[in-house]
Order: sequence, then structure tokens, then C-alpha cells
Amino acid sequence: MIKLDLRYLGKEIDFASYEKKVAEINQAIDNKTGAGSDFLGWANYPETYDKEEFARIQKDAEYIREHFDTLVVCGIGGSYLGARAAIEAINGLYPDNKVEIIFMGQTVAPSYISQVMKHLKGKKFAINVISKSGTTTETAVGFRLLQQLLVSQIGEEASKKAIYATTDKEKGALLELSKKHGYTTYVLPGDVGGRYSVYTAVGLLPMAVAGIDIVSFMNGAKDARKEYDTDTINEAYKYAIVRHEMYAVEKKAAEMFVTYEPKFVQLGEWWKQLYGESEGKDGTGLLPDSATFTTDLHSLGQFVQEGSKVLFESVLKINKVAVDIDMPHDEENLDGLNYLDGKTLSYISEQAMEGTLKAHSETGGVPNVVIALDYMNAYSLGYLMYFYMRACAMSCYLNGVNPFNQPGVEIYKKNMFHLLGKPGY
Ligand code: PA5
Repeated sequence: MIKLDLRYLGKEIDFASYEKKVAEINQAIDNKTGAGSDFLGWANYPETYDKEEFARIQKDAEYIREHFDTLVVCGIGGSYLGARAAIEAINGLYPDNKVEIIFMGQTVAPSYISQVMKHLKGKKFAINVISKSGTTTETAVGFRLLQQLLVSQIGEEASKKAIYATTDKEKGALLELSKKHGYTTYVLPGDVGGRYSVYTAVGLLPMAVAGIDIVSFMNGAKDARKEYDTDTINEAYKYAIVRHEMYAVEKKAAEMFVTYEPKFVQLGEWWKQLYGESEGKDGTGLLPDSATFTTDLHSLGQFVQEGSKVLFESVLKINKVAVDIDMPHDEENLDGLNYLDGKTLSYISEQAMEGTLKAHSETGGVPNVVIALDYMNAYSLGYLMYFYMRACAMSCYLNGVNPFNQPGVEIYKKNMFHLLGKPGY
């Protein structure tokens, strides 16, 4: 399903020298003996997930699809990026899904929120509010506004069937509020951190409402777990080793996640959060950046080609595209494009990728690793996300940091609470 192509890396890596370390780390993940091991629930989750809740998610998603025009997913960070990435990667940017999925709770920007609220006026909308802690400011502010709008439109009683909360099983303001109002709730398990939660209700309910086959998504994850939970160097661990070599040996400061698909922009956002929040601590780690080619070849491409040599690229390549377009012939040929007669857009895109890989690595001296995925659908996306998560845990442990905490995020919150006058700050 996933193969690494290291031809454009510009160096040979002695993978054998990592064998012992990789085996030790894999065992530490499996036996939960490494730093942050309380948050390793995601590693086996594609098999151990709550089947009863999964069935409930499928049923509720059907109900939402039948009764509402729009689902507003209200969450931030790990509590929304996975769902958004998956929905866009599978359904594209102009989907024909009967239920529109929109996002709030990831910002407090008044212009964004007022547009969303205006958009929702008079619409039959449901809310999926997602917060593990139940106290995240952006999400809580967004939810209060959404809840009040909904109640003003359909009343308190009907809103009970329109609000779905995903939160901690036992504690938190969102759980208490949901119980009091009688909202449907799902669990974000205590041992799964936000950025590793796409296989829980956090990702699954919005995806199912978007019409995505969540059974296939979970099957992909399950098969990936079998493939990547090994003491030997599998493809996920190979990627982790490449990252480690780029950081520790080649002294690169950044990794650029590159795709050739605008519908993968949010997958890049999810990937950035996964790696940035997991790895960037103790004064170490690669800065995760992302770009969409060929679009960004006309902007960041210049920097990559000739700017300072601070980064390497990891290119997500999809081997077989789901749809293709033939270049049409034009008798006049005023645009001079008839040399492309009989060619498909996927062929043109492949040549662009090949040409860019050579330009950046051979001419520009920028190392590239290609991560080739056979095709993109619910199954392979479930597989791919697990690949990135497993590689992320291995990467962090190779760098000697805890992959599952994010102490740095608290600092801005404390300052903001103090400035806002929150009691206790
Ligand atoms: O990955 C993480 O743990 C974070 O990005 C959280 O998901 C994010 O801060 C939102 O937290 P919560 O779900 O508690 O609202």
C-alpha cells in the first residue's frame, strides 16, 4: 500500500545501524514503557475500539444525514483536524455529499464566526462539539454561540436531537453540560490524545455524516497496524529514520510535506499538527511545513530551489488517481498546447512531479523522500494516517522526546486567561 522511494534523497542511509534502536522503541510502544505511555491507546485502537459506540455513530450519522442540511463540527487542534483532513481528502473541495460539513470552534476571529452564523441562519443544522478537556476556549466560545443560535431557531427540546458531543468519558464541563441538556455523547478515550484521535468518534462521526465509509477507514488502519507494529524496520520506521537523519545528521531545520492535490491541503494541516505538537519540544525537532504543488511551485518553489538549504521535502504521491481528464484537441492551437494531444492530466501532473523531484534534489541540493500510496480512498487513508502516526511516535523517540504531551501549548493559554481576567489566572 505504501512504498518509500529514496532515489532523490541525495544520500545512502545505513538502515541496519538502526535495527537495535528501532526494535527497542517498537517494544517500548507495544509494552507502554516509553515516555507518555499513558497516551498509547491509539496504537491498538483500530482493533480495540468500542464496537457498540461505532454502531451508534453509524446510526446517528444516518439520522443526521436524513434530518439536517448541515453539520457544524466545533473543535480545535486534534479535535477537528483529522476529520477535516479525511473529509476533504476523500470528498474533495466541492463535494456532492447531501449534508454540508462546516467547521467552527477552531478560531475566535469575529469575521469568520459571524459569516458562519449568517450562513446557518434558517438552515436545518446539527452540531458535533468535540473537546476532550471540555474547557478549550475557542471551542467553548464557538459552541455557546452555536447552541444559542440553534435553540433560537428550533427550541430547547428539538436541539437535544441536534447536538452531539464528543468528550471525556468521566469529566469536564462539556460532559456535565451535555448530561444536563440531554445531548448524545461519545467518548474520546482517556489514553488517546487529540492528534492521535482520528479513529475515535472525533474523526468518525463527521466522516460518516460526510458519507465516508468508516468501516473501510478502520479496516485500513487495522491492516496498517499489522504492517507497522514490527520490531524490524518497516516503511513507517524507514520514514522515521529518514527524518531523524535529516535532522540529526544533515542538520535540516524543516520538513516540507508536499502533495500535488489541492484536496490534501487539510491533510497537510493534520500532518503539521501531528508532527509539530509531538516533536517540537525541549528545544529540538523539525519544523513541519507544507506545500501544494504545482500551485506552490509558483511561490515557495523559488525558495526550495535556490533559497537557504534548511529543509528537506517528503512528497506524498498517489500512484493511481480515481478520475482523469484527457487534454482536448483544438484546431486553432493558438495556445500551442496541441503537443499534449492524447495526454491525460494525471500524466502531465506526473511529469511535473518527476521534473520537480529532479530540479529540487539534483539541481537544488534539497533532499526528497517520496511516500507513494497506491490510491486514495477511505481504506487507504485509514492506512496512511496510521503510517504517519506510527512513524511520528518512532521519530519522537529517536529524538528522545515524549510524542504524546504538548506542555508548550499551555503557556499562551495561561497568558490569555490572565489578560481576559479568567478567575484563578
Ligand atoms: O493534540 C492535542 O491534544 C491538542 O491539539 C488538542 O486536540 C486541542 O488542544 C484541543 O483540545 P480539547 O479536545 O481538549 O478541546
